[in-house]
Amino acid sequence: MVEPLNVWDYERLAAERLDPGAHGYYAGGAGDELTLRDNVEAFRRWYLRPRMLVDVDASTTATTVLGQEVSMPLLVAPVAFQRVAHPDGEVGMARAAKAAGTVMCLSTIATSTPAEVAAVGGPRWFQLYVFRDEGVTHDLIAQARDGGYTALVLTIDAPVRGNRERDARTSFAIPDDVRVAAFGRGGVTPKQVFEAISASLTWRDLERICAESGLPLLVKGVLTAEDAKLACEHGASGVVVSNHGGRQLDGVSATIDALEEVVAAVDGRIEVLLDGGIRRGTDVVKALALGARAVLAGRAPLWGLVVDGEAGALRVLQLLQAEILSALQLVGCTSPADVTRDRVAPK
Ligand SMILES: Cc1cc2nc3c(=O)[nH]c(=O)nc-3n(C[C@H](O)[C@H](O)[C@H](O)COP(=O)(O)O)c2cc1C
Repeated sequence: MVEPLNVWDYERLAAERLDPGAHGYYAGGAGDELTLRDNVEAFRRWYLRPRMLVDVDASTTATTVLGQEVSMPLLVAPVAFQRVAHPDGEVGMARAAKAAGTVMCLSTIATSTPAEVAAVGGPRWFQLYVFRDEGVTHDLIAQARDGGYTALVLTIDAPVRGNRERDARTSFAIPDDVRVAAFGRGGVTPKQVFEAISASLTWRDLERICAESGLPLLVKGVLTAEDAKLACEHGASGVVVSNHGGRQLDGVSATIDALEEVVAAVDGRIEVLLDGGIRRGTDVVKALALGARAVLAGRAPLWGLVVDGEAGALRVLQLLQAEILSALQLVGCTSPADVTRDRVAPK
């Protein structure tokens, strides 16, 4: 087999490796998958506008996100149940992120505990779901704090689960013997977790979570100027423009198309990140030009994990870093901070 060269190669190989049910779970989206596809396609509707004869000899992809130094403006997004993708699971993904010099964001619905991932010793954030039972949420926040996680990422676009028809067609469910590790006592089953997530969370709860955790809070799932303003007013340190990789409400805009209105509404008060559809270094540079501080990638490193465990995830992150560096230099920028709005235009 020829060595995979890019994320698309890993995506194809992962599709061959996984059984149809698990593949549909990871690759699929909600409803007609309009948003799932548009996340990727929308990047193609933006041109890059390179500037020439700039000295880009000493360029770097390094930047900071919420004050955290990272090797590149691309972080690992929270993705549930990684041990179903490969036995290396979240610990393997965290090792890959650490080796690549970037942040691993651990999902609440992970197959390793926050402490196990913390033991890897890399930069780490914790993605939080809020539960009907307040005690469960308190316990998760305590595990994040005790594990040295430096930020909470509160996912706000999943009060109920999206309508994922691929799973229904293949009769796929995460097997009951796969345990959600953060819940202790051997964990609980996936079904129990989904039923326990709160559908009553409102903006008022944000300040309470910030105060309780003492950690910076990123709000993940913002798609409008209105919600971006509310996030600023309720104590968030950042927002992630995200539609959950097209897995929740189908028919919402591609994230790259929602980015500018969020950036304008935030008006520099807090950091704006984006995820959804990142497959190339040029996608990252387009997001930076439209005002993102950094992006998160979900499926891209996940396909690497499926194909070759920790080593595959690391290789995908390294490929993306090399692509980001090349795109920065060819667009005439020496660092992520150098990428200004004039470097992109709509088609
Ligand atoms: C299989 C899968 C599981 C996910 N699980 C979670 C999760 O547990 N919590 C969360 O906030 N987001 C979750 N997401 C959404 C990702 O964090 C991210 O928003 C999305 O994958 C970005 O799109 P991309 O896959 O095109 O990069 C999941 C995404 C996928 C594909």
